[in-house]
Amino acid sequence: MPSVLITGASRGFGRELFEIYAQRRWTIFPLVRNPVVASQLQASTEATCHPIVADVAAPRAEHEISRILESYCNSLDVLINNAGNVKKLRGLGQTYPEDLEDLFRVHCSGVLRCTKTALPYLKKSEKPAVVNISSRFGSIARVMSGKGSTIYSYPIAKCAQNMLTACLDQELRKQGIRVLAVHPGRLKTEVGAPDADTDPRDAATALADWIDQVDGETLCGFHDIMSGRLIDW
Ligand SMILES: NC(=O)c1ccc[n+]([C@@H]2O[C@H](COP(=O)([O-])OP(=O)(O)OC[C@H]3O[C@@H](n4cnc5c(N)ncnc54)[C@H](OP(=O)(O)O)[C@@H]3O)[C@@H](O)[C@H]2O)c1
Repeated sequence: MPSVLITGASRGFGRELFEIYAQRRWTIFPLVRNPVVASQLQASTEATCHPIVADVAAPRAEHEISRILESYCNSLDVLINNAGNVKKLRGLGQTYPEDLEDLFRVHCSGVLRCTKTALPYLKKSEKPAVVNISSRFGSIARVMSGKGSTIYSYPIAKCAQNMLTACLDQELRKQGIRVLAVHPGRLKTEVGAPDADTDPRDAATALADWIDQVDGETLCGFHDIMSGRLIDW
């Protein structure tokens, strides 16, 4: 069976991805912060499931990811870097370097950490892919066109994550590993924007179908999954 590691699988979009891959009977490595949730996920599915309890923002995550992959994984086909959080503080007056650093640690350092740790297993897959869940808010082109929000930290963290995606693609594509940035849609989750209009289950299904189609020809772009278009970086 193919295998997938999904970060932030406890709830929201990551949880829906977990459900979709469980239905498809993939081997799943859900990364969650809460050990109780980890046990619940494992008990909830007949798919092979090896939870990883870790905070992607903390260096110790490397140890926990390695420990589980070493024990249960020969090769990893897909890594979905989904874990994320939002601070909806608006304007320069409400924006503090500490908030920015907090979000950077999750959306950027966390993605780097998980990708580096999973890399030896991705290299063993016949069709490996790293899918970084970005956001339309991370697009500089969108802000410059006047459609940006007045929030600083989240767009900056996602924009940095997009650059990380491009850097990873440059190095890893030569090794046959696809690295892609994805905007999953305006999801009706806890942190969804006021204009959220997309059921996260529908978006998770669309993303899993799209990942199935990823091949050597797929460009490292900023992919809007629900519309099928590329977003300007
Ligand atoms: N909602 C949208 O419309 C939308 C649009 C574009 C992009 N996105 C992106 O999609 C992803 C999922 O968003 P969502 O709407 O599903 O958010 P959500 O409902 O708030 O879920 C966030 C998930 O990330 C986990 N998480 C947060 N920080 C973490 C950390 N340091 N280590 C490990 N796990 C962590 C949370 O775990 P806990 O349960 O432990 O808190 C939770 O499972 C995020 O990257 C978000 O930026 C969302």
